[in-house]
Amino acid sequence: MRWVGIASLVLASLAPGVFAVKSQDFKTCSQSGFCRRGRALSERAAEAKGAWVSPYSLDSSSLSISPNDASFTAAVKSSLYPDIKFGLELRIHDDGVVRVRMDEVDGLRKRYDEAASWALIREPEVSKDIKWSAGKKDVKAKYGENEVVVSYAPLKVTLLRNGKEQIVLNGEGLLHMEHFRGKEEPKAQEEEVVADSEGQQQEVLQPEPEVNPRAWFEGETEDAYWDEKFNTWTDTKPKGPESLSLDITFPNHAHVYGIPQHATRLSLPTTSGPDPTYTEPFRLHNADVFEYLADSTMSLYGSIPLMHAHSADSTVAIFNAVGSETWIDISHPVPGKSTKTHWISESGILDVFLLPGPTPSDVFAQYARLTGTTALPAHWSLGYHQCRWNYVSSEDVRSVQKRFDEEDIPVDVFWLDIEYAEEHKYFIWDKRSFPDPVEMTNDVAATGRKMVVIIDPHLKRTSSYPVYQEASEKDLLVKNKDGNEYEGWCWTGSSSWLDCFNPAVVDWWVEKFKLEPSKNGFSWVESTKDVHIWNDMNEPAIFNGPEISMHKDSIHHGGWEHRDVHNINGMLFHNLTSLAVLRRTDPPQRPFVLTRSFYAGSQRFGAMWTGDNLGTWDHMAVGIKMVLANSIAGMAFAGSDVGGFFGNPEPEMLVRWYQVGIFSPFFRAHAHIDTKRREPYLLDEPYKSIVKDTLRLRYKMLPVWYTAFRETSVTGKPVVRPHYVEFPKDINGFELDDQFFVGSSGLLVKPVTEKGATEASVYLPAEDQVYYDYFSHSTYLSSGTGKRIILPAALDQIPLLLRGSSILPTRERPRRSSPLMAKDPFTLTVALGRGGDAKGELYLDDGTGYQHESGEWVWREFVASTEGKKKNAKVRIENKNLGKTRAGEAVDPTRVTDVSTETYDSNNAFAKSIEEVRVEKVLVLGLGSKPLSVKVEIPGEGEKELVWEWKEGVAAGDKKIKDGAVVSELVVKDPRVGITKEWAIVVQL
Ligand code: GLC
Repeated sequence: MRWVGIASLVLASLAPGVFAVKSQDFKTCSQSGFCRRGRALSERAAEAKGAWVSPYSLDSSSLSISPNDASFTAAVKSSLYPDIKFGLELRIHDDGVVRVRMDEVDGLRKRYDEAASWALIREPEVSKDIKWSAGKKDVKAKYGENEVVVSYAPLKVTLLRNGKEQIVLNGEGLLHMEHFRGKEEPKAQEEEVVADSEGQQQEVLQPEPEVNPRAWFEGETEDAYWDEKFNTWTDTKPKGPESLSLDITFPNHAHVYGIPQHATRLSLPTTSGPDPTYTEPFRLHNADVFEYLADSTMSLYGSIPLMHAHSADSTVAIFNAVGSETWIDISHPVPGKSTKTHWISESGILDVFLLPGPTPSDVFAQYARLTGTTALPAHWSLGYHQCRWNYVSSEDVRSVQKRFDEEDIPVDVFWLDIEYAEEHKYFIWDKRSFPDPVEMTNDVAATGRKMVVIIDPHLKRTSSYPVYQEASEKDLLVKNKDGNEYEGWCWTGSSSWLDCFNPAVVDWWVEKFKLEPSKNGFSWVESTKDVHIWNDMNEPAIFNGPEISMHKDSIHHGGWEHRDVHNINGMLFHNLTSLAVLRRTDPPQRPFVLTRSFYAGSQRFGAMWTGDNLGTWDHMAVGIKMVLANSIAGMAFAGSDVGGFFGNPEPEMLVRWYQVGIFSPFFRAHAHIDTKRREPYLLDEPYKSIVKDTLRLRYKMLPVWYTAFRETSVTGKPVVRPHYVEFPKDINGFELDDQFFVGSSGLLVKPVTEKGATEASVYLPAEDQVYYDYFSHSTYLSSGTGKRIILPAALDQIPLLLRGSSILPTRERPRRSSPLMAKDPFTLTVALGRGGDAKGELYLDDGTGYQHESGEWVWREFVASTEGKKKNAKVRIENKNLGKTRAGEAVDPTRVTDVSTETYDSNNAFAKSIEEVRVEKVLVLGLGSKPLSVKVEIPGEGEKELVWEWKEGVAAGDKKIKDGAVVSELVVKDPRVGITKEWAIVVQL
């Protein structure tokens, strides 16, 4: 029976709407030896209260401070193991990030120390200006407001700002690096028999039980040191225990965010301490969790060991570069003030980065300097993606496309799931149903659209599959513990897995995607440059493996066990595929590759989605929180399956899910093979029209999304932003995770995720600002303390606000796909702020290639300002060039990625190609009174009167604005000004 069949049987056996995760397939902490040991350590420490002292100390006589830069090394000892040596190294980077590394020195074996090298874009520059100074008790470095103090005994690392503790490592004494050791065979029980003078046995003396002097720290028993059973599997551990425990405390931060991916709230709930929300620690262990829970600490498909800690006056973060399974306990020693976390990893060195902030934007920049930013995606990939498991034939694809076109519903991408491939041998079309893959793709591409086709990492073990055959012959596959090809079950049946840690895989995999025949074996000639890729099951998912994944004692390139690299594995496959798609054409095209599994740094390679969610309201709601959590951890190009993967959503749910989807950076509808077809054109009225309008809204706002993506690609600030990111001082917003901002656009959305809702409560940030209902232009006034308002939210209404002081560029003409909009005119919505000001940005480039890296782009800033008093005031709305540095200054000072365009020519080829593109409408919200005149000034061309319309209403600057009051509107009709040109619209009041 095929696995598809099994999945469907499971599904069919459930009553509609009833789902159940198979928790028995996945370990709890108490079923995982090293987690059990780590938690027991923290429990003993808690019981000992103040008497607990970490056995680790820094040997000050070994301290070696670099004369050239801000680094030092020192020996560390554990009083429990005087003969075991550890080495510590601290480095302070140019931007103030502190890296703390500790490893075992001259140990029996080498610990895995390459996790950071996969995550980092390069070895960071160590500061040459900052200096360490050693004292009797500690070694310190002070820079700016920050100071790092490394206390010798017990070993403790503290980052302070203005004397206030920000991050403390080992403050609770839970640091423990289990050293490598030989396995001691249990001694045979020796009994001492004493005979009396007549040779009679007199008494049997049992040996004194040995007192284990380390028990207070390590526990009494060697718990799961050498092997471990779970369900039917035994994990052999030839290297023995090597886990790593570390407490990281944020003494002045009450909120922590990040460590995706979990289905939970954004502000991470507690897992330990008094009355914890969850009893299990958060787990990072990439896993294919069938029918996952909507509220749980269980691990999911990807892992990013990055945690933000936040308070009203400080944001800091830690990035724990570890690639093995990790569990994290969270508690609040002083609720509302501090947070304590305990990280327990199975293997690897200690390699922790302390990101000093002090604001969320600083933390994003610091993390981006380490791991890179989200690559600027192809513009079309921000459109709507239509997927299901499966469109079953070329004809099916064509008829789905036809139906979209007949209904005038925009869509950019059609997807093919695993059934396109003969026997799930990826790349190999099933010619019975897909006889003409190239023609089919060309038909789709005729309207500027693309296809995305799935390529999973498991290769069917059969000689009739050239991809497997070549990989096997070239020795590119993961090995089992005995050194033979690893074998397991996935969609294709018996499979083997590419070992992406093997450098030889790179060129070979790139070759597989070449569109021309290759001399070196298989290449995908039955594909085109319009086919992009979906990488799934790359945790890896293995149906008959432990926890539905790979045996941890299997072996990767370099001899590393799978346990060492498990969480990194999925990222490498994604990396390789995006490289292959990039390289298949000359000049290269921006690749689109979706991944399910990810690690720190995956943002460089493409988009992710939250996997197999359920068609329930809970899953719809938690999907938003998950997208936000992924976003703040670098994965800006994130989304969830619209409609829910499992189940058949009722029309109301589907409509709401589309409203969520259009506000996700990655926007794809997807469905399980056993679900009913649910393409938007199949809906009855009024649902169909609502979804169509919803999709159109996404397309209208593509300029906003693309501009936000440009920003994330150069600054690391996410595309969708939780409240604390935009309003870091607003304490009432620190828990908010059901409403968010889109880039720097001023759009604030709260998608409805409740059945039957007719209104929604939205929190307005603590600031003196006016917010406009995007659709009705009703006006709401926020204040310095923030406030909640109620917005209408009937099924066809999305609670969406535009913050005063914003200018929003949109393209309002409905088209079938986004490439057809490339020359469409723009509408500018000028949402005046309290002081009559507003600002907005627009970034454009060709959307598919890399010419933008050599300066072929357009980046405009729209600025509205008010001069003079209420009556007689003059409002100027200007279009300015933001890329104006012909002289060679940095183009964008907030940029953290490499600047490849030191100079910029506003007359570049791309800008020229759109010089005819104009602004067709300017809508000004919140003017104080009806204008006397509206003119446009164009440098060199003088002034022109414009045609306009006026609607009376309240002004943005009015002292008191009643919630729901209708704002004044000025519509400037077709001012006939170019989007790439300098001009000013002058409104005389
Ligand atoms: C996995 C994916 C899902 C896909 C299915 C078949 O379950 O998460 O999106 O449709 O595999 O490839």
